[in-house]
Amino acid sequence: MPDSVMLITGARKGIGRALAETYTERGWRVIGCSRQESEYFHPNYRHFALDVSDQDAVRAMMTSIRKGEGRLDALINNAGIASMNAALLTPLDSVRRIIETNVLGTFLFCQEAARLMQKNKFGRIVNFTTVAVPFNLEGEAVYAASKAAVESLTRVLARELADHGITVNAIGPTPIQTDLLRGVPKEKVESLLARQSIHRMGEQRDIINVIDFFLRAESDFITGQVIYLGGVS
Ligand SMILES: NC(=O)c1ccc[n+]([C@@H]2O[C@H](COP(=O)([O-])OP(=O)(O)OC[C@H]3O[C@@H](n4cnc5c(N)ncnc54)[C@H](OP(=O)(O)O)[C@@H]3O)[C@@H](O)[C@H]2O)c1
Repeated sequence: MPDSVMLITGARKGIGRALAETYTERGWRVIGCSRQESEYFHPNYRHFALDVSDQDAVRAMMTSIRKGEGRLDALINNAGIASMNAALLTPLDSVRRIIETNVLGTFLFCQEAARLMQKNKFGRIVNFTTVAVPFNLEGEAVYAASKAAVESLTRVLARELADHGITVNAIGPTPIQTDLLRGVPKEKVESLLARQSIHRMGEQRDIINVIDFFLRAESDFITGQVIYLGGVS
């Protein structure tokens, strides 16, 4: 969709960065955000340094998008953090940060983006969950709970936004080599891969394939769905 406008949260590195590069190269005008400044420069790319849970900063960015672009066609709610820790040892500060980033941030962006998308009666929202939810993964209690909340938000918002022409779906990646995986021991990753139907690491192309599917004009009858990678259900 050349000349369409896409907002990607957490676009500085990892999956978000790969998505920003892919869609700018394909002709989308991409607006990215993350807490730190980006080192990705492209005529079709603009980056905002903000925390996804900071309502004032998010609103200021949306005002800038509304004035500058006048539209928003897709939101990729990718920003997320994890912390591998036994539940009994997890500090409350860590719980708070994970919930604020993953749940509050996702909700805030859905809310603000949908307000702009509804002007054109069209929008595609893709949220990020994880296979840690269906696996009930030990050591990831808060992360899995935060992403279970994202799945629930996805389903309810799909219903609330359908009449505005906005679809809301989610992707649940398996382990993919990014900084997020650094805190997870190698044996833990291997045991996760063994539990998948297809026993390999995920790659950026796997994510892009599912997002492409959700973005297609023909996917206007697909909403409230969660697609896990690797044959996990
Ligand atoms: N990698 C995996 O194996 C895997 C598996 C399942 C699901 N996922 C999900 O995929 C998504 C992307 O993960 P990733 O692997 O690409 O992680 P990553 O490499 O750690 O990147 C996370 C991105 O989010 C940004 N970010 C983090 N907290 C933020 C905040 N409060 N406000 C704004 N931006 C923030 C970071 O940039 P700054 O540091 O500049 O803020 C960075 O660009 C996450 O939702 C994650 O839960 C990943």
